[in-house]
Amino acid sequence: MPEIVTVETSPFEGQAPGTSGLRKKVKVFQQPNYAENFIQSVFDVVGPQSDSVLVIGGDGRFHNRTVIQQAIRMAAGNGYARVIVGQGGILSTPAASHVIRKYGADGGLVLSASHNPGGPDEDFGIKYNIANGGPAPESVTGAIYDRTKTIDRWLTVETPDIDLDRLGEVNVGDLVVQVIDPVADYADLMEELFDFAAIRKIVTSGFTMRFDAMSAVTGPYATAILEGRLGFAPGTVVNGIPLEDFGGHHPDPNLIHAKELYDLMMSDAAPDIGAASDGDGDRNLIIGRGRFITPSDSLAMLAANIQVAPAYHGRLTGIARSMPTSAAADRVAEALGVPCFETPTGWKFFGNLLDAGMATICGEESAGTGSDHVREKDGLWAVLLWLNILAARGISVDQLAHEHWDRFGRNYYARHDYEGIETAGADALMNGLKTGLATLPGQVFGPLTVSVADSFSYTDPVDGSVSANQGIRVLFEDGSRIVFRLSGTGTQGATLRVYLERYEPPFGRLDAETGDMLAPQIAAAEQIAGIVAHTGRTAPDVVT
Ligand code: G1P
Ligand code: ZN
Repeated sequence: MPEIVTVETSPFEGQAPGTSGLRKKVKVFQQPNYAENFIQSVFDVVGPQSDSVLVIGGDGRFHNRTVIQQAIRMAAGNGYARVIVGQGGILSTPAASHVIRKYGADGGLVLSASHNPGGPDEDFGIKYNIANGGPAPESVTGAIYDRTKTIDRWLTVETPDIDLDRLGEVNVGDLVVQVIDPVADYADLMEELFDFAAIRKIVTSGFTMRFDAMSAVTGPYATAILEGRLGFAPGTVVNGIPLEDFGGHHPDPNLIHAKELYDLMMSDAAPDIGAASDGDGDRNLIIGRGRFITPSDSLAMLAANIQVAPAYHGRLTGIARSMPTSAAADRVAEALGVPCFETPTGWKFFGNLLDAGMATICGEESAGTGSDHVREKDGLWAVLLWLNILAARGISVDQLAHEHWDRFGRNYYARHDYEGIETAGADALMNGLKTGLATLPGQVFGPLTVSVADSFSYTDPVDGSVSANQGIRVLFEDGSRIVFRLSGTGTQGATLRVYLERYEPPFGRLDAETGDMLAPQIAAAEQIAGIVAHTGRTAPDVVT
């Protein structure tokens, strides 16, 4: 019999689960009833049946095992038939998506705060993914949020902790808990998608790599696939053991937090390719010898070449990118005669397009790339697709980039983040932009003339749902663009993101410094938005 724990809703501040679910400090999650209230709200909305299957796994950060034990007891209390959990409580986010799909589960609890730091004083998160393997759509997250505001009890059973480290099945009341190898299913999928034989061949001929797992979840996956199945030398994967605090680092694969890798790749000792992934394994960083590839370019370059990978040959139906992602992918779509979709920020907006077969590959400027093989972005997948393309084409990362720019032109791109700013200032900045939108077209900022300015609104072509207020876009006559939006994933104050882009046609200035090329756009962004006045910051905290 389930035990019923009554709760007052007041200690729990309901939080609208956004693109990344509920994300808070560990200390907040450790409050009595906190995680339980959220999980019960999920179960109340989902309504498990007596044959329902739930996948549970996380990125191994501090508090992961505790919440998994809570979730298992509550799944038993709520009448689930089966819980599938990764050994050690581990499942990368893309692997969780795959496991949900492969085992026909009703959904899954994915425990992670992605690229945010981990540890007792750092971040934790829970999100619910639906049966297609992707993050729950807004209709579901909205219902979960509403439920968190009225919840008055949660259901559990009393039972000792499950041994999460032992593979196999155990019973918790009527619930079967199945502990699975977190890597094997995912590694098998990768081997089906890509030409592992071709990659093994270049490895044998001396092609080298470094993969920085950032002491996060991709360590075991990368070691098994790159060193195990593909034959890269032992030591190719560095920081390969998942740690609860990620070794005290931000497991965010950008040029700041993966600086060591970047420095190596710009040095004489660089291997052929360097790559990294984030806390939960859904983001990727790709650096060739002496050549950093922006995530926006990576999407375009992968899309242009994806058909060399066996599972994608002859079946690219469309490309999707988030609105702030550069338009490089649009040019590829145009050349290939397939549609390009522009969605709001957040992976969940790709789900319908992938389910409907309208898009095959999608990506975001924030280092997320993926395809219809799962319903999450997938860091290692992107790395393996790069390897497959380089192996099939017999060229280097830098050669591929130049070949691409010579054909399509280059979209110089940067994102400036102003982190932890005061919410009032951030709101004032965005409101100021909105009110001034109509007056912008025709205005001149140095060499740039505004052609169009709007607040991005998206109508989902599959279900017709509308998502408004997804960022301010300012387009210029020369093809440049500035986008302003507030982050939906920060845990402190507000974060302003300014996305800057400039297009240079084929055989133009293709080898210039991004900072130099974007100087007019940076100046225009300040003039248009008054960033210094509203944020009190004279420079961004992070440039990616
Ligand atoms: C950020 C990224 C976005 C990504 C999300 C989850 O969201 O910008 O592309 O989908 O993290 O990884 P933001 O903080 O900008 O709302
Ligand atoms: Zn992530």
